[in-house]
Amino acid sequence: MKSTLKAISLLLVIMMFAVVVAACGTSSKVSVGIVLPTKDEPRWVQDEQRFKDALNGTKYTTEILFSQGSSAKEKENVDALIAKGIKVLIICPQDGDAAAASVEAAKKAGIQVISYDRLITNTDAVNYYVTFDSVAVGKAQAKYLVDHAKGNGQPLYLYAGAASDNNAFLFFQGAWSVLQPKIADGTFKIANSSEAVGLQATAELTRDQLSKIIGQVTTNWDANEAKNKAQTHLTAASADKKGDVAILAPNDGTARSIADVFGTDKAVTSFVVTGQDAEKASVQYIIDSKQSMTVFKDVRTLVKDAMGMAVAILDGKTPETTGSYKNGKIDVKAKQTNVIVVEKSNVKSALIDSGYYQASDFKGL
Ligand code: BGC
Repeated sequence: MKSTLKAISLLLVIMMFAVVVAACGTSSKVSVGIVLPTKDEPRWVQDEQRFKDALNGTKYTTEILFSQGSSAKEKENVDALIAKGIKVLIICPQDGDAAAASVEAAKKAGIQVISYDRLITNTDAVNYYVTFDSVAVGKAQAKYLVDHAKGNGQPLYLYAGAASDNNAFLFFQGAWSVLQPKIADGTFKIANSSEAVGLQATAELTRDQLSKIIGQVTTNWDANEAKNKAQTHLTAASADKKGDVAILAPNDGTARSIADVFGTDKAVTSFVVTGQDAEKASVQYIIDSKQSMTVFKDVRTLVKDAMGMAVAILDGKTPETTGSYKNGKIDVKAKQTNVIVVEKSNVKSALIDSGYYQASDFKGL
């Protein structure tokens, strides 16, 4: 009798254990994995928050991981998500080429891959791409510099993003298409890149030519690197490369550090500096007239498009796309979003009235 009771209670314990394991199994099942490049830049922390806002109250099980600027960590993240049984991977690569290995592993596991904001290059394991119009970002930055040019022969300082990021090429390509004619007609003279000077008569640059310039003026998307480069450039610059200057800065993080450097050089009488992302700190810089403009990319739309695609895939439907991008190996079907130029005069209408930020986030609006 005693041994029968013991056997029954043992059986009960085993059954309860099985129920718990099954329940845990279900709750740890993730259907959409999201991998973002780094927490060290406000841009990507914001994307995380916008994903969380969009997912709040939905039935989708997602997990967001950060790669902290490392392709090795990114691969670990993707492997961990594959092990959790994801069906869709939304990934913004740290390095477009290096991410190929991660998404090829995902493809092998039957997972559909959505490249987010940055294109994963030279692999056929990318199914879709959600992006802003990055060529338009560069064009808008350059147009701002042209519209605010002072006189003739104005010194122009060029800076670019990381060569490992396909977007850096698109931004620079867009900017060059607007700046080059204005360099050719003498409005601007390039102050800090011998490679760009060597190519200043060339209207359309090849990828190799872009690489040469980007290699020289890259910030690696790193605010410190941008600051050091700007310091080196100003130290080397002769008096005719100072005065009223124009600066193509690729994004807000680098723009603020470049602006800080130019702002402390007594021989620089004024400068116009571009940016991108509408980071809160840069919006404050614009209000304070320390940064001239930014290109606002409404991350809510990108998140909505990425999740919309993921849900379509989960439902066995074909996601809607608006065009395609060549990634070096295939044409990746893409959904593209427009961008908005923000300067002091429209900060309020573009960023506050649209509900993107709160007025209380800023001083002196
Ligand atoms: C993004 C920018 C960002 C930059 C640095 C680019 O790929 O499109 O929004 O500022 O990376 O993280």
